[in-house]
Amino acid sequence: MTDVSDDGSQRWVRSQRAAVVEIDEDILLVARDGTVRKLSGESAELAREVIAFFARPRNERELLRHLEVIAGPLGDRAAVVRQLVALLAEVGALTRERDEHAIPSGRGANVVVVVSGAIAATGAPAFVIALQRRGYTVEVVLTHAATRFVAIDALGAIVQREVKTSMWPTAPHVPVPHVALAHWAELVVFYPASATMLSRLAAGDFSELGSAIALTTRAPVVVVPSMNVDMALAVAVQRNLEELRADGFTFVSGVPSQEVAEAPAVRTTLAGAAPAPGEVAATIDALRTAGLLKRRDVDPAAPTTLWDGVYRRDAKLLPWVKDRVDDDIAAALAHHAPPPGRLLDVGCGLGQIARHAAQRGYRVVATDISEAALGVASRDAADTDIVWVRDDICASSLAGTFRVIVDRASLHVLPASRLHAWAISMHRLTSPGSILIVKAHRDGVAGATTGWSAERFVSLLSGFELVTQASAELPGLESPAPIPSILAVLRRRAGELL
Ligand SMILES: Cc1cc2nc3c(=O)[nH]c(=O)nc-3n(C[C@H](O)[C@H](O)[C@H](O)COP(=O)(O)O)c2cc1C
Repeated sequence: MTDVSDDGSQRWVRSQRAAVVEIDEDILLVARDGTVRKLSGESAELAREVIAFFARPRNERELLRHLEVIAGPLGDRAAVVRQLVALLAEVGALTRERDEHAIPSGRGANVVVVVSGAIAATGAPAFVIALQRRGYTVEVVLTHAATRFVAIDALGAIVQREVKTSMWPTAPHVPVPHVALAHWAELVVFYPASATMLSRLAAGDFSELGSAIALTTRAPVVVVPSMNVDMALAVAVQRNLEELRADGFTFVSGVPSQEVAEAPAVRTTLAGAAPAPGEVAATIDALRTAGLLKRRDVDPAAPTTLWDGVYRRDAKLLPWVKDRVDDDIAAALAHHAPPPGRLLDVGCGLGQIARHAAQRGYRVVATDISEAALGVASRDAADTDIVWVRDDICASSLAGTFRVIVDRASLHVLPASRLHAWAISMHRLTSPGSILIVKAHRDGVAGATTGWSAERFVSLLSGFELVTQASAELPGLESPAPIPSILAVLRRRAGELL
């Protein structure tokens, strides 16, 4: 029997399990192994009362008091009540109360669920709900075929966001979904993945939204294939699975099914249909909590080589490199986001801001696209706790949020095609109240940097409000001659979605 705490203070509550069945006046308790116990007469009545009482979390002592109020002193019957509680717990009708203060394991992590056209798509709503219960924030993408298996409106109501089915943005100013979601996602799950979807992923086919996200993102991608055994056995499917494993995709395997075409004695057991939604959610959550989900390889085509080449020259002679932090950035930090707290120095170059911040007491993460820059910066700051990370801020692998992010002269060298990705990273790496300090050329240098204004920052960073702006100066890329610039301080607003 399930152990019920001796002092009766353990709180129980009704579970989601369909363990209690009512037929006529009887109550049937169906255990997980299929065993059925029948309660009739007074036992069934008592069971009804007990089950109703545990609609809210309560302990055994409270139950006994409640029964005495309605039926008088229980005497020896208290032992029967205790046995009944233990029985209900054993069959899974009652579950231990969840610690209301426990933080759900997902902690708001962003998950894109891609639903493709397999019969298991009918379980997608339950899968999404199971992730949400664990604290994940979910966006849903449906293939065209999947829309015939599951209702968009139902999924939209569950996630309280627009369900995406197309590569095309809904309005010209809205980011393109596959780029935005690929950057937003901290995890992508295909529940279920059809045989066709496996083929798209293996072939690098970007013509459909779900596969385009999975092939673009750096987040871990979990694939839950679902198909009948004959399809699963097809040589092409097996080849695709093998390639996808080699490409770093993670597979949660399906419910074993049997190849019934074989004689019973030699039947093999194969992965086929997707496991139940709740099971997959629990497995993925456990893998993520244990840190076992792999991120995808960093894109070798990212502009590392360009900046490595630049910093391999005598880095200290580069026009924009100074040996100390800019006074206006130091003042903005002290005024708008004084230490302590986590600070991210984006595009840190030789690390002047990072060193200044570490000395003031921030916990500093400093990133740059160039290994060469980080090599010099970290050598010059060997006695600090700064964490130096090679990272492309437009496809950042950083996790968690920062109290303050400083971008000095990185945003203005990005091409227009990467600005949304930069903004999405700013959003993902901050939380309401976080401060963003950006310093960029106001007029730009033709062909090398772009020009910025307060209005342009505000329109790019929809979740932020402008706190203050000031005229400033930055050196050019080719010459130290000062170029009119802007220093803007922005604050992340509460409750803003992308
Ligand atoms: C009723 C029905 C059930 C299907 N079930 C599956 C399935 O479980 N697994 C699968 O891979 N394909 C299944 N298919 C075939 C896919 O729907 C089909 O290959 C489709 O093109 C997949 O497209 P998608 O990957 O874009 O969603 C089924 C088709 C129908 C009509």
